[in-house]
Amino acid sequence: MNLTREERQMLNGEQGEGVQKAMEILVALGEIYNAGEMIEIKSAQVAGVSYKNLGDAGLEFLEEWAKKRAVVRVPTTLNPAGMDLRDWKKLGISEEFAEKQLMVVKAYERMGIKPTCTCTPYLVGNLPVFGDHIAWSESSAVCYANSVIGARTNREGGPSALAAAITGRTPLHGYHLEENRMGEFIIEVKCKLDKISDFGALGYLVGKKIGHSVPYFEGIRRADMDQLKALGAALAASGAVALFHVEGITPEARSHNMVSEGAETIVIDSLEEAYWELNSKTREIDLVAIGCPHASLAEIERVVDLLKGREIKTRLWITTSSEVKEMAKRKGLLEEIERSGADIVADTCMIVAPIRDLGFRNVATNAGKAAFYAPSHCGLNVRFGSLERCIEAAITGRWEW
Ligand code: F3S
Repeated sequence: MNLTREERQMLNGEQGEGVQKAMEILVALGEIYNAGEMIEIKSAQVAGVSYKNLGDAGLEFLEEWAKKRAVVRVPTTLNPAGMDLRDWKKLGISEEFAEKQLMVVKAYERMGIKPTCTCTPYLVGNLPVFGDHIAWSESSAVCYANSVIGARTNREGGPSALAAAITGRTPLHGYHLEENRMGEFIIEVKCKLDKISDFGALGYLVGKKIGHSVPYFEGIRRADMDQLKALGAALAASGAVALFHVEGITPEARSHNMVSEGAETIVIDSLEEAYWELNSKTREIDLVAIGCPHASLAEIERVVDLLKGREIKTRLWITTSSEVKEMAKRKGLLEEIERSGADIVADTCMIVAPIRDLGFRNVATNAGKAAFYAPSHCGLNVRFGSLERCIEAAITGRWEW
């Protein structure tokens, strides 16, 4: 690779062992992907935070790196951890897990990263602008940043995003290059999309069909931010999509012809297959989980409207960042939620928390991504449907057809 003088100094260890290790990772990746050079980034978002996924080996790896005085040089946020960093006792997290989880976060803090643990960093200040090069690793956030904001990132792994944060650079390849951002499949949407769960269902179906390609959606007339984040999250889960375009809505699709010549067309005229495949047969529900990706303030308001002050029979978690939770508190929404017996849970989610250890077996969600991962990653029976049905399940304790 063609490295600048400063990048060579980093690689030679002239800026310390921690920086050297970061540059070694990036050069190795650059060589794998035939990147000719590095590009400077504006921000980073690092996955690999939950102790449930990292285990002791991951914790040691981070502590070793932090000891080598590696410090980030661009604004960097973290992915969700395995627990609410403040209210973990209330969730029933064990002391042993909490101790290890806090050690993970401490290691990141020693590297200069603020403990903002969220998969929606763009809602809490880590907000790139159109055309910014960034290095993010949470797949739903990657999809959102590339597609809805028009920033440029590959789907980084946790270590490569951290290495990018420490050096302020990433190898120039993949979605950083204009020519790789064209739609490879035209997706003609002929069914009605109404609820957030419909967007998750659509993302699940399309991701499954196209893998890591770039879809160009036609026929979606309107979509708000929460619907687009649900769509991207599901595309990235059932497939490995990192970028999508929606005609007339997402920024690149508004200004350029973003379809490759010869792109195949796929017609989606029903979401039934997704609702069928993502639903188990369980009727009993013990947890309703809303907020995958992490809930916005508007989503929390909608839950309050639907609860109408009624008491719930199951546990109900609305997962979000601590910053959005604080905003909800200031607006009086937290009080309303807690009055019904529900919780706004910060810093974590049902997939990365040790959910089975907390005793949950049957979960209802309106998120396509969570419905896709919950059986395989957490061993849970899932019910997937609209927010309205999820809230009714929380109130009755049962999933009604
Ligand atoms: Fe975020 Fe957890 Fe869903 S990390 S995208 S809430 S699986």
